[in-house]
Amino acid sequence: MAAAVVGRIAKSSRNLVQRSWFHSSTVLRQTSPPPPQSRFFQPDENTMLPTGSFSNKVAFITGGGTGLGRVMTSTLSQLGAQCVITSRKLDVLQQTAEEISSQTGNKVHALQCDVRDPEAVSRCVDEMEKLTGLPDVIINNAAGNFICPSERLSPNAWKSITDIVLNGTAFVTLELGKRLIQGQKGASFLVIGTIYAESGSGFVVPSASAKAGVEAMYKSLAAEWGRYGHRFNIIHPGPIKTKGAFSRLDPTGAFEKGAIGRIPTGRLGTPKELANLAAYLCSGYANWMSGAVIRFDGGEFVFMAGEFNELHKVSPDQWKIMEAMIRKTKSA
Ligand SMILES: NC(=O)c1ccc[n+]([C@@H]2O[C@H](COP(=O)([O-])OP(=O)(O)OC[C@H]3O[C@@H](n4cnc5c(N)ncnc54)[C@H](OP(=O)(O)O)[C@@H]3O)[C@@H](O)[C@H]2O)c1
Repeated sequence: MAAAVVGRIAKSSRNLVQRSWFHSSTVLRQTSPPPPQSRFFQPDENTMLPTGSFSNKVAFITGGGTGLGRVMTSTLSQLGAQCVITSRKLDVLQQTAEEISSQTGNKVHALQCDVRDPEAVSRCVDEMEKLTGLPDVIINNAAGNFICPSERLSPNAWKSITDIVLNGTAFVTLELGKRLIQGQKGASFLVIGTIYAESGSGFVVPSASAKAGVEAMYKSLAAEWGRYGHRFNIIHPGPIKTKGAFSRLDPTGAFEKGAIGRIPTGRLGTPKELANLAAYLCSGYANWMSGAVIRFDGGEFVFMAGEFNELHKVSPDQWKIMEAMIRKTKSA
């Protein structure tokens, strides 16, 4: 409906912005100052919680060597946590661990672990138990993803994404959950999902399916394992620029330009903003929060969902034309 209205107006005015993803990115690339409203929504890059909020706590972060995982680790470490970061690339983990430990003065341990392998997860948790004991905070952040038309997906491509995101999160959560239950220790679990877990999205179907599964897993466990002292929450981030995500999902840079145009706050999120939210959700300040799904996307999801939101492209002059058209319809 809204698209039809915009289409009709476009005939009256040749200035209307092209609407395809590719074209809109081209248009935006030519004239791309940040949307003016972004000045109202500048990020606060300071650490939000009080110093010491995670003193004597242990945090386990998958994919903690890079991107969002790295910034969440740095924030928790700054707040007093002893952190354990895991992923496949030990050299990357070790470098991150050393850098963060030297900045914060709190130890960050690097442990290699491919979350797709339940035995590797079990060995990693054995190692962690020796180093730090069981964790108070578990952040399932590791993921894989790439853009691909679904008719081009091989079974292997499907399996590699769903193995990391869905099975990997399950292996980590079940391994730690069972040991925490055995040890009668409470913990806060967090998943870094994605906004399209809620809507689904073409061209990232394995990721959308796996992230939706993870959401169901965490909501289910929030209901079941509260009795053991465990909380489970989910953040659904919109686009936040990281090397890992954007190199695989936005090789041309077109997505980023297009995304800014559909985010009502006029900019991408920052890793530190996400890290502050994650720290809050895992902290004692959020001890009454469990089973929550937090959309953290600058308003992108609702902007894309609302049928008439396309009308933001209509200029004041075009509104005059449209108003006259509507009046004519009324008087006919
Ligand atoms: N950036 C965004 O705009 C955005 C938006 C929505 C959601 N997210 C979510 O945010 C999370 C972090 O993404 P990011 O943007 O920070 O990208 P990233 O830097 O590529 O992070 C992904 C991490 O997962 C690890 N990983 C991949 N496969 C693994 C495996 N089999 N076992 C263990 N670790 C594995 C990677 O390390 P190794 O390669 O060393 O294994 C890497 O550290 C992901 O869950 C992503 O879906 C990001």
